[in-house]
Amino acid sequence: MKLKKTISLLSAAVALCCGPALAASDSKPWMNSKLGAAERADLVIREMTLDEKLKLVFGYFGMDNEGKKYKRPQESYNQSAGFVYGVPRLGIPNLWQTDAGVGVASQGGPQVRTATALPSGLNTAATWDPQTAFAGGAMIGAEARGYGFNVLLAGGVNLMRDPRNGRNFEYGGEDPLLAGRMVGAQIKGIQSSRVVSTLKHYALNDQETGRTTLNVKIDDQSARMSDLLALQIAKEEGNPGSVMCSYNRVNGVYACESSYLLNEVLKKDWGFKGWVMSDWGATHSTIPAANAGLDQQSGMPFDLADYFGAPLKEAVLNGWVPQSRLDDMARRVLHAMFEHGVVDHPVASEPGKIDFKANGAVSLKDAQEGMVLLKNQAGLLPLAKSLRRIAVIGGHADKGVLAGGGSSLVYPAGGNAVPGLEPKTWPGPIMYYPSSPLKAIQQRVPAAQVSFNDGSDKAAAAKLAQESDVVLVFATQWTGEAFDMPSLSLPGAQDELIAAVSTANPKTVVVLETGGPVSMPWLAKVPAVLEAWYPGTSGGEAIASVLFGEVNPSGHLPATFPASEAQLPRPVLDGYPEVADKRFDVEYREGAAVGYKWFDLKGLKPLFPFGHGLSYSEFGFSGLSASVKNGALQATFTVKNTGKVAGKEVAQVYVAPLNAKWEAPKRLAGFQKLALQPGAEGKATVTVDPRLLAMYDSASKTWNIAKGDYQVTLAADAAGGKAVSTVVHLEAASYDVNGKPLRR
Ligand code: BGC
Repeated sequence: MKLKKTISLLSAAVALCCGPALAASDSKPWMNSKLGAAERADLVIREMTLDEKLKLVFGYFGMDNEGKKYKRPQESYNQSAGFVYGVPRLGIPNLWQTDAGVGVASQGGPQVRTATALPSGLNTAATWDPQTAFAGGAMIGAEARGYGFNVLLAGGVNLMRDPRNGRNFEYGGEDPLLAGRMVGAQIKGIQSSRVVSTLKHYALNDQETGRTTLNVKIDDQSARMSDLLALQIAKEEGNPGSVMCSYNRVNGVYACESSYLLNEVLKKDWGFKGWVMSDWGATHSTIPAANAGLDQQSGMPFDLADYFGAPLKEAVLNGWVPQSRLDDMARRVLHAMFEHGVVDHPVASEPGKIDFKANGAVSLKDAQEGMVLLKNQAGLLPLAKSLRRIAVIGGHADKGVLAGGGSSLVYPAGGNAVPGLEPKTWPGPIMYYPSSPLKAIQQRVPAAQVSFNDGSDKAAAAKLAQESDVVLVFATQWTGEAFDMPSLSLPGAQDELIAAVSTANPKTVVVLETGGPVSMPWLAKVPAVLEAWYPGTSGGEAIASVLFGEVNPSGHLPATFPASEAQLPRPVLDGYPEVADKRFDVEYREGAAVGYKWFDLKGLKPLFPFGHGLSYSEFGFSGLSASVKNGALQATFTVKNTGKVAGKEVAQVYVAPLNAKWEAPKRLAGFQKLALQPGAEGKATVTVDPRLLAMYDSASKTWNIAKGDYQVTLAADAAGGKAVSTVVHLEAASYDVNGKPLRR
């Protein structure tokens, strides 16, 4: 006992005096944190046995499965997404993996860990503010670390090709620039907490219906200018340690065994140095997958076999998978571990150290910044504190706010505010975070009579509406992993409820808690609509603060709200309703013309355009000039707050070619969110990524700008709200696959 104490005191003294650089003994030179990640990975790999390398490329699920006679590794955390053995003798820690993009999730069961949930990814994208995304990432990364995880399965950036996709809430919307920048900023934030983040789901996994059986058909040029561009930008901005390949096939080949996607696009063209892990159940082979670039099989027993277990060993020993390839697989895992600090700063499970109060405030700010005021006629909002009779109707607004379902579900402290709703199990439970909008509203108007009606009886709700000064109707749409929505309609009888209530009292505000775009047959009758997405663990508070004008709304839509399904490239979702094991193709015939680009191309008028979002203030744009500086297009402009309250405007720069032909009439080329006091002006300059002015050429792997005139438009949305325009002449120019200038 005594001896043990002396030794530990001694080692503490060594650690204090010398730090990691000197503590790295001669026998473990890779522990020298002054060396680069590549060198460290090379040094340690030389010492590893075949079996140790194999350990690093094989992942387990963090939960027992009786049906499959599976017991999770003892060292894993129960009800977590995954676990990979490290090599302790060489100082390489285990990998503890947790979902996902809105916080530390848990698999369903009796031992969930409670954590802080950010608002949905779509809400964060709607902030158009990379700093907010970074702050949220840093917070959930720190919570992951606090729970002993060193890998966060975040970074979802599948483009919204279909507003009915059940997982849209996890992603960044429909535009490659906005989605890539916002999700990239979140990844950077997560990794600032020394936790590896993934980027997922690679690639083109844009619907849940038949996600494991469908085959996406798309040409290389269209893919590189849409989904792949979003992933490429997020990779550049965030430098994720890992990329998760997806369930679906692309042009006939599983994404997790596509040499085109993994070896060529991701590793060769984009220079990705980290490791590719499969989605849970997305590995289908040993030799084809390993040689195509998959580095790690995840989540056994989700796959049919332990492809990267004993069969991989045999394949390496027989030379079907070269030894050098196995070294590369393990080296990539190690590279990310060294680069992102998980070796030098080992994790320990210490949830007691998590500051949930401070983290709740980070989530609150994200929600406030991303809520989108869709409509506000006759200044119905913000609500006056002098109101006497306020009706709050529907959406369980007395109890809490809705969350999205599936693997990303974060369990809140205080438990589910509305337990027992179906489905109770995967992809449920349907979860309401216990942040009650009703209570938050009541707190702000203590003298008023705030009455709640659950909305189940239309007539009773309408009666309450009639007797009130103002009506707040909450409408919800639960979406989640592994299923899509049958249509754009709000589920159940909510459309009828809103219609009845707004007929009874025209002073009706609709608050939406939805996974993504929904249709609004009642819109003409309702003067105010606030899109609150899934607003996270502080959601009720966030909604009330915006309704009462303590916070001026500044979110803008990261996706088009269509007027109807008929406007979509696929009016009927392919493969819907899902039939088990049915294989089918999904033809992305819209190519790179996703979202507003499709609407522009077809001359369609949406319900609300991409980029739309109102404020309690007014803003004007002026002084737009566009010129080429140091080879890059720059747009400079002034934004003025012409209203009476402080607020934020998202200035959006769109470019349209006047001579050349693109996949669609215009593209978002840059954006800047500006905070302005009333009467104040702000000047901003946006530099345009050349890829957003170019067409991609698959044969030469170059991006090419055509010589000609281009219209540069500064607008408040994709439909040209408040637009001012100018024309700039661009010379022909070519860029490499990553948008770097090529000498001609
Ligand atoms: C999801 C991934 C998730 C994984 C682990 C899969 O079902 O598609 O996004 O990270 O499970 O839970």
